[in-house]
Amino acid sequence: MQRRTIEWRNGTVVTIDQARLPSETVILKMKNSGEVAEAIKTMKIRGAPLLGAAAAFALALTAYNSKAKNKEMLISELEKTAKTLKRTRPTGVNLFWAIDRILNKARSFSGNVEGLAAFVVEEAQKIADEDAMANRLIGKYGAELINDGDVVLTHCNAGALATVEYGTALGVIRASWEQGKKIKVIATETRPKLQGARLTAYELKRDGLPVTLITDNMVGYVMYKRLVSKVVVGADRIVRDAVVNKIGTFTIAVLAKEHSIPFYVAAPTSTFDLTHASKDVVIEERNPEEVTHMGSQQIAPESVDVLNPAFDITPLKYVTAIICESGILYKKDFDKFKANYYK
Ligand code: MRU
Repeated sequence: MQRRTIEWRNGTVVTIDQARLPSETVILKMKNSGEVAEAIKTMKIRGAPLLGAAAAFALALTAYNSKAKNKEMLISELEKTAKTLKRTRPTGVNLFWAIDRILNKARSFSGNVEGLAAFVVEEAQKIADEDAMANRLIGKYGAELINDGDVVLTHCNAGALATVEYGTALGVIRASWEQGKKIKVIATETRPKLQGARLTAYELKRDGLPVTLITDNMVGYVMYKRLVSKVVVGADRIVRDAVVNKIGTFTIAVLAKEHSIPFYVAAPTSTFDLTHASKDVVIEERNPEEVTHMGSQQIAPESVDVLNPAFDITPLKYVTAIICESGILYKKDFDKFKANYYK
């Protein structure tokens, strides 16, 4: 049976604590939306598509636990939860997309308050199911771009752990592997939170895929030495002119272009935010301690100035194609896709 990273079990949201991986496997069982918001803030739950599903389930918990006497009261409780959730992490768009989808549908729901509560739970489950389905399709389409013998470099963790199941960038890698292609993966460690070392290396090893870990500053060397044939990364937000993804992505994209290595972005359409451009995106700035410390060990001088943006912006000219659940979008297809987005 396929394991899911997040599940709704009769009024409890169950997931794995990603801050403790890979040394400990701790299962989180959350019974109210505040616990979900806190888990998102502290990155126990992370990865753009997973944040979408988690936010949806947080609203489901509010609806499930509500004692509201009428629809208006329940909607105002949902709006309060939405406000808290929207303050957790600003960059990945799936969180905002999932919240707005549920709120908009809730506002136009025409049954009674009990019906509305049940509807919110169903809609959250639908969002999770759709993500799982989208990842399978991303894997299927993306695998067409991967050849037997390829070495695929990936950054951060865009795997099963960052999604409801299967993964986006790692979905492409998994699907290629399941088709019998003898591929290898290079995972960058992804400073400062080490999602590549802690999560991608863990997830691929657990599932029996060959993975080699490098530090972020080795990307130029491995490309120069022709040790990489393709790059596949995920995305936190795809805007009209760029892909916003984990800090370090832009450097990899520029290096890939310099070495004529295809650079693919794998993401569901719930990560598309085509009414905005890169200038509109809030890039999350995280705690300086993530840079000055390795775990609990301080590695930099006391009170040194630090920059710690969690994401960067890769202009579309560096992107060979975007792989989503509708197929592979090259530049002209993406332009068409953008044009249709407004219709
Ligand atoms: O800060 P995180 O770990 O929540 O970052 C998000 C990501 O997982 C990555 O940027 C990923 O490449 C896109 S999400 C599948």
